[in-house]
Amino acid sequence: MPMTTPTAERIGLWLIGARGGVAICTIAGLVAHRLGLADGTGLVSELPQFARLPLPKWDNIVVGGHEIRSVSMADELERLHRQSRVLSPELVRECRPEFDSIDAEIRPGTLWNVGQSITALADLPEPRAADEQLPHGIIRRLQHDLTDFQKRHALSTVVVVNVSSTEPLPTERAWPATWSAAEQSLELADCPLPASTLYAIAALDLGFPYVNFTPSLGASPPGIEELARTRGTCHAGRDGKTGETLLKSVLAPMFAARHLEVMSWVGHNIFGNLDATVLDDPANKSAKLQSKDRLVADILGYAPQTLISIEQITSLGDWKTAWDHIHFRGFLDTPMTMQFTWQGCDSLLAAPLVIDLARFTALARRRGETGVLTFLASFFKSPHGEAPAAFADQFRALESWAAAANQSQPRSGESA
Ligand SMILES: NC(=O)c1ccc[n+]([C@@H]2O[C@H](COP(=O)([O-])OP(=O)(O)OC[C@H]3O[C@@H](n4cnc5c(N)ncnc54)[C@H](O)[C@@H]3O)[C@@H](O)[C@H]2O)c1
Repeated sequence: MPMTTPTAERIGLWLIGARGGVAICTIAGLVAHRLGLADGTGLVSELPQFARLPLPKWDNIVVGGHEIRSVSMADELERLHRQSRVLSPELVRECRPEFDSIDAEIRPGTLWNVGQSITALADLPEPRAADEQLPHGIIRRLQHDLTDFQKRHALSTVVVVNVSSTEPLPTERAWPATWSAAEQSLELADCPLPASTLYAIAALDLGFPYVNFTPSLGASPPGIEELARTRGTCHAGRDGKTGETLLKSVLAPMFAARHLEVMSWVGHNIFGNLDATVLDDPANKSAKLQSKDRLVADILGYAPQTLISIEQITSLGDWKTAWDHIHFRGFLDTPMTMQFTWQGCDSLLAAPLVIDLARFTALARRRGETGVLTFLASFFKSPHGEAPAAFADQFRALESWAAAANQSQPRSGESA
C-alpha cells in the first residue's frame, strides 16, 4: 500500500559504467541543473504535470558507481566536448571539481560473464580476495561498496542504474525461474548469470531499487523479480528508448490507427562512440538488435519484414544517425513509403532519461512500491511486465501514476 511521502531526502545515484558516455552526460546534467546552467529541457520529470511530486532535488542527489576502466571522468568529459562538439566550455569548466570528487566514489566493478569485447576494455583490476572468487563473494563486495556509500553520505536510499556496456545475449541457463534457483547458482564456478544480474542482485537484496538502461539481462529473470518483491523494493528496465525506437513507438500506432498495412520496416543506425565499438562485436550486437526489433510487431499485432543494422563509423563519435524506410500498403492496394532520418548526440539523448528514471524510481521506492515499475515503460525499448507498447499509452500510465502519487500527498507545504 503506497505511503504518504515526506519531502527533502538525500538519495544516492549509483551508476554501473560510471565513466561511460551516458554516465558522464548524466552527471554533467545534474551539475548543470544544480548550478542553474540548464532549464530542464529534455527532462520529463520537469514537465508541469510532475511539478507537484516530491522528487529528489538537484542538491540532494549524490553520485557514485562501479567501473572497469581507470580513465578520469573529467578527461572523458573533456574528450566528449572536444570530439563531439557538445556541452558549453563553461559547463565543462564548472564540472571539473565535481567530477574529481565523484571519481573518488568509483569502485572496481565485476567482469563476470561479460564476454571478450567488454573484458578487453578493462584496466581497473577487479579485487579477487579468496572469498570473492565466486559470484556470491563478488556480490558481497559490491554490496559493501553500496552500503559504505550510503552510510558515508547519509542517504535514504541508493538508486542503482546500469549504464554499462551491452553484454552478449545470455544463455538459456541464465534465466532462473525462482530466487532460490538463482541463489544456488551463485555458488557455482560456472554460474551463468552475467555481471548485470550480479549488480541487480546486489542492489535488490539490500532493498535498493535497480534500473537497467541497457539491453543486458539485469533483473529480467523471474527469479530476480522475486528477490525484488521479497525484499520490498522495485526495479525497471530495459534498454533506454532514446531515438529511433522512440519514433517507432510513436509512428507504428499511427499506421495501425489508419488501417495502413506495414509491409516492411528497415532501420540503419550509424555512430562511432565506445558503445558502438562494443556493439561491433556480433555477440553484443545481437542483444541490442533483439531489443530494438520486437516493438513494431508488438504494436501492429502482426510481424512485417524488419531489418535493423547498427554499424560503427568512428568519425561520427557520439553522433548517431538512424535512417528508417517504412514500406506500407494503402487504399486499393497502393504501396507507399515513409522515410525519416533521426540525428542526435547519443549520450545527451540518454542522460536526461537516466535522471528522470532515478528521480521517479526514488519516489516509487519511498512510496513503498515493489516489483516492476510498469509506469516507467515509456522510457524503455523492451519494458518489463505487462505494459502497453505504444508510446502515448505508456506516457498516460506515467501521468496516471503521478496523479495518484499527488493525491496521496499532503496538500500544503510540499514542493519538489
Ligand atoms: N542513447 C544511448 O546512448 C543509449 C540508449 C539506450 C541504451 N544505451 C545503453 O547504455 C549503455 C551505456 O552506453 P554508453 O554510450 O554510455 O556506453 P559507453 O561504452 O560509453 O559506456 C559504458 C561504460 O560501462 C563500463 N563498463 C562495461 N562493463 C562494465 C561492468 N561489467 N561493470 C562496470 N562498468 C562496466 C565501460 O568501461 C564504460 O565506461 C550501453 O549498454 C548502451 O547500449 C544507450
